[in-house]
Amino acid sequence: MERVEERFDRTDYCGSLRLSDVGRKVTVLGWVSKKRNLGSLLFIDLRDRGGYVQICVKTDSIDVPEIRNEYILQVEGVVAKKDVPNKNLATGEIEIIANTIKVINSATQPPISTQEITDANEDIRLKYRYLDLRRNCMQKRFKIRANIVKAVHSYLDRHDFIEIETPILAPSTPEGARDYLVPSRVHKGSFYALPQSPQLFKQMLMVAGFERYYQVARCFRDEDLRADRQPDFTQIDVETSFLNQDQILELGEGLISEIFKESIGYEVKLPLRRMEYLEAVNKYGSDKPDTRFDMCLHDVKELMSKSEFQLYKDNKYVKAIKVENFATLLTRKKQDSINLIAPKFNMKQFAYLKYVNGVLEGSIAKFLSDELINELIKMFDLKDNDALIFATGNILRDINFGLGAVRSQLAKELGLIKPNTYDLLWVVHFPLFEKSEETGEITPCHHPFTRPCDEDIDKLFTEPYNVYSYAYDIVINGYEAGGGSLRIYDQKVQEMIFKVLGFTEEDIQKKFGFFVESLKYGTPPHGGFALGLDRLAMILSGTDNIRDVIAFPKNLAAVDPVSNAPYEVDKEQLDKLGIEVVKENKNG
Ligand code: AMO
Repeated sequence: MERVEERFDRTDYCGSLRLSDVGRKVTVLGWVSKKRNLGSLLFIDLRDRGGYVQICVKTDSIDVPEIRNEYILQVEGVVAKKDVPNKNLATGEIEIIANTIKVINSATQPPISTQEITDANEDIRLKYRYLDLRRNCMQKRFKIRANIVKAVHSYLDRHDFIEIETPILAPSTPEGARDYLVPSRVHKGSFYALPQSPQLFKQMLMVAGFERYYQVARCFRDEDLRADRQPDFTQIDVETSFLNQDQILELGEGLISEIFKESIGYEVKLPLRRMEYLEAVNKYGSDKPDTRFDMCLHDVKELMSKSEFQLYKDNKYVKAIKVENFATLLTRKKQDSINLIAPKFNMKQFAYLKYVNGVLEGSIAKFLSDELINELIKMFDLKDNDALIFATGNILRDINFGLGAVRSQLAKELGLIKPNTYDLLWVVHFPLFEKSEETGEITPCHHPFTRPCDEDIDKLFTEPYNVYSYAYDIVINGYEAGGGSLRIYDQKVQEMIFKVLGFTEEDIQKKFGFFVESLKYGTPPHGGFALGLDRLAMILSGTDNIRDVIAFPKNLAAVDPVSNAPYEVDKEQLDKLGIEVVKENKNG
């Protein structure tokens, strides 16, 4: 007997039909999004990956099967001009007058709406992600994401890069987050780590002489989740040999510009601005400054030391920002809400002054002489209804980052950021080391293989926190979209860094002995960067939630709501791995 294979033919995608198609006989396939029954006429909005089209069914003249929402139909008919166009649909000027309708599959009533605009909460949307993803607005984001990757392959291929994969079952890598561990069955008690990034492998590929490597690499980090972080995410990972920092930034911004053009058709003006790390934190209160609005931080220590306010005389730092047109909005309640930011930066609260009808008023006004008030008005060029917000303390980082957080929050609240604008810059010369918030000990800002600036090498042992590095981040709209550095290729410098960090020979051997060994055999000068693909897709598709651009993301509790992973496994499976789980005693 001859086998007949099913065929699901169509002539067009639903969303692609236009006025120019009027009169054409077409066949479309899609899901029923909505239907309206007007007796002798039945209207169906049919949805496929490309959009929606209205199907008009004259129920007296054709056989109409049972049709419910989310049924899959094959409709054959003729494209006709609509009397009253629907301006909300790309296909709104036409409809298909159905000749035949075939139900390809039925569907159970979906637990969430698949309409473009939904008020379903995110938890339920993530649980039924496959339904949530049916919405065209979601599919458009994934198209942008796919176009980013396409642009990456095309640009890097033209620039002689080759794509090389590195292991997922890997040794621990030094990006500073906690590792996800994978137990080895063969070597009981031993674990692989899922890579936090391909950092060590890509450097070894430089030692191996590939010179230009890239990879669209899956990375895994066990860290607290935020709106722009996921435990598994993707990097566009790049490494090159024989280029200096300027050349690498030029290559990186060329890539970014191509990504913008190919994914959303936006022309990025090159070269991008380069901002020193110190300028970013001192002026914008952030190492990822959003420069689409001003509200910059000013150092007012000298001025405010002249006040009668003892705290401003005693504390090492006093800084302030001016918020234009904010005085009337700056109620007691608003001040309390801004003050919630302060404890995160080890401050009790901020201080506020309002400039209203030529008078500077607020709790600290009584400490200010007329002369000082005039100086403040002049310094900030205060206009009626402007407000000043002050922060003070002895740790500059807290003051800067605290006021920076206020700056970002108020810009959002006051609508100071124009939608669909892009602000791209490099932040360069990051410090090499920082004090670990957990242990208080000196740790690398990036990783221990980042190259210190040549002019700072003699400060390594005397003032390590004043040593800067050839490390850079690309910042887009206040997000860290990527980062990288030149790497140390001089053995002596590498040994000095390990010494500053207090690593013993044993530590080095245990943590990355294999890698340090590889650097001995003729390492070329090299460096690179990694762009966060998910963050780029998020920014370019106009959302501020990274989960919107990941097909099956984890929720804030690091759970995959579709499958409920992670879950407990059978004892038998654990026994084979030689693992015993000790349950946490909830009573302490
Ligand atoms: P870094 O740790 O700065 O550098 O990471 C590079 C970029 O990856 C993205 N990113 C993340 N995106 C989503 N969720 C996360 N949890 C997450 N963590 C990082 C960010 C970030 O800028 N090996 C170095 C790169 C190098 O030096 O070449 C590295 O991984 O956009």
